[in-house]
Amino acid sequence: MRALTYHGAKDVRVDTVPDPVLQHEQDIVLRVTATAICGSDLHLYRGKVPGMETGDILGHEFMGIVEEVGTGVTKVKRGDRVVIPFVIACGDCYFCSRTLYSACETTNPGRGMSLNKKVMRSPAGLFGFSHLYGGYAGGQAEYVRVPMANTGPLKIPDALTDAQVLFLSDILPTGYQAVVNAEVGPGRTLAIFGAGPVGLMAAACARMLGAERIFMIDHHPYRLKFAAETYGVETINFDDVDDPAQAIIEATQFRGVDATIDAIGFEAKGSGLETMLTNLKIEGSSGVALRWAIAATRRGGIVSVPGVYAGHIHGFLFGDAFDQGLTFRMGQTHMQRYMPELLERIGEGQLKPEVIVSHHLNLEDAVRGYEMFDKKQDDCRKVVMTPGTAAAPLKASPDLSTTAVPPGI
Ligand SMILES: NC(=O)c1ccc[n+]([C@@H]2O[C@H](COP(=O)([O-])OP(=O)(O)OC[C@H]3O[C@@H](n4cnc5c(N)ncnc54)[C@H](O)[C@@H]3O)[C@@H](O)[C@H]2O)c1
Ligand SMILES: [Zn+2]
Ligand SMILES: [Zn+2]
Repeated sequence: MRALTYHGAKDVRVDTVPDPVLQHEQDIVLRVTATAICGSDLHLYRGKVPGMETGDILGHEFMGIVEEVGTGVTKVKRGDRVVIPFVIACGDCYFCSRTLYSACETTNPGRGMSLNKKVMRSPAGLFGFSHLYGGYAGGQAEYVRVPMANTGPLKIPDALTDAQVLFLSDILPTGYQAVVNAEVGPGRTLAIFGAGPVGLMAAACARMLGAERIFMIDHHPYRLKFAAETYGVETINFDDVDDPAQAIIEATQFRGVDATIDAIGFEAKGSGLETMLTNLKIEGSSGVALRWAIAATRRGGIVSVPGVYAGHIHGFLFGDAFDQGLTFRMGQTHMQRYMPELLERIGEGQLKPEVIVSHHLNLEDAVRGYEMFDKKQDDCRKVVMTPGTAAAPLKASPDLSTTAVPPGI
């Protein structure tokens, strides 16, 4: 089969590789009909995540048709159309039984990214996300083996298109968990740092839950413009405004917002020193976005962090967080907890995640897709790919990709 494989930093290739096979009784093999490139793939693509090996298949946002079924699989059958969460969870360990699926303690033979690990159980295995997370082959491929198929796959009604539901695999539940963690609701104020796909999904979910005022911070005007037009956010470009946190504080009667969301993670731009130290591997993460988020949050507020962090940050102002009495919530998304509810909301028209897609490509063009998404070329917001040269091109719902969506969706 054809698949997008890793060969080193900024070197990914579409190769012919062996087809996946069933390995355990709860496995299925999925024929992928749509797959996307995530901001987390960019961390891998840029060579920033250890534990990648030559030939590893990338991709953790994907959906398709069940092709083969292991003997222990009861939840899905051959021919079912399903979306797969990027988190591989068993469904009945200590953490899964508490719906903390991304902490599943049975699916990851790797060690995760924690530096100060002690002898602690690893977090869940993830598709296409390095051998620290189990070395599972990803879904930017024609076929993929999906373990734990009684817990992960979510069946999709025929009436919904691939484009409408694909982001249930990652960024939609991630944006949703971020706003749930931020306790967003009617009358609440929020600042979202990062207008990438995760930030946009957070904005969509925050609107859906009735947030009163949403600030969004980035430095790509085309991303900020889209967010303002689609979700009615108030934008701040940090290339133009030296201190976005101060701007938010001043716009909220010198209090700050009820909650902030860091939808950027450890490669945040804005501090030349930290970018340099991170590149030299002296610093684990750039802390600039977190510092802005902490500063912009009102006393007693919440900082919610879906952006991925790794290792230490010297400039993390814990004393400021203490002085402000802040709550922090973060981590990989507990996907399986949120997917059924979000599928319903898509079906009811409350969420239209497909509107953020800017590029539909064939999997054969995946290398170009990575380049565009990485360098923000051609106003790239989100790349969706269709495997198989004979496959029909992925279609968005009628008109949605070109129709302006009113704020609130
Ligand atoms: N927690 C999870 O389960 C989960 C799931 C999916 C993605 N993620 C993570 O979420 C993050 C965002 O993903 P994405 O797909 O939106 O990626 P992306 O790279 O497309 O978007 C990040 C955006 O942040 C902006 N940015 C950079 N520095 C900034 C700063 N200092 N202030 C404001 N904006 C800044 C960039 O210009 C970019 O538009 C990544 O770290 C990704 O790994 C986490
Ligand atoms: Zn992702
Ligand atoms: Zn489990």
